Amino acid sequence: MIVCVCNAIREDEVRAEARKGATCPLEAYKALGFEPQCGCCLNCAQDIIDEERGVASRSKSSRVVIEFPRAA
Ligand code: FES
Repeated sequence: MIVCVCNAIREDEVRAEARKGATCPLEAYKALGFEPQCGCCLNCAQDIIDEERGVASRSKSSRVVIEFPRAA
């Protein structure tokens, strides 16, 4: 399954990076040579990482939020 459409990052790639130690999507994406674009995938990617690491899912208040500048 594709987790990140912008970068074509697959779920198994995110899981592999979580097993190597990534604790958040930014770390996992960076290790894969990418960075977030639209940010739509980050909460889903975080859930996958948390699941792979055996961490209880984060509450919404601690979810990954990245704000991107608006186009002029
Ligand atoms: S879907 Fe991942 S950055 Fe856009």
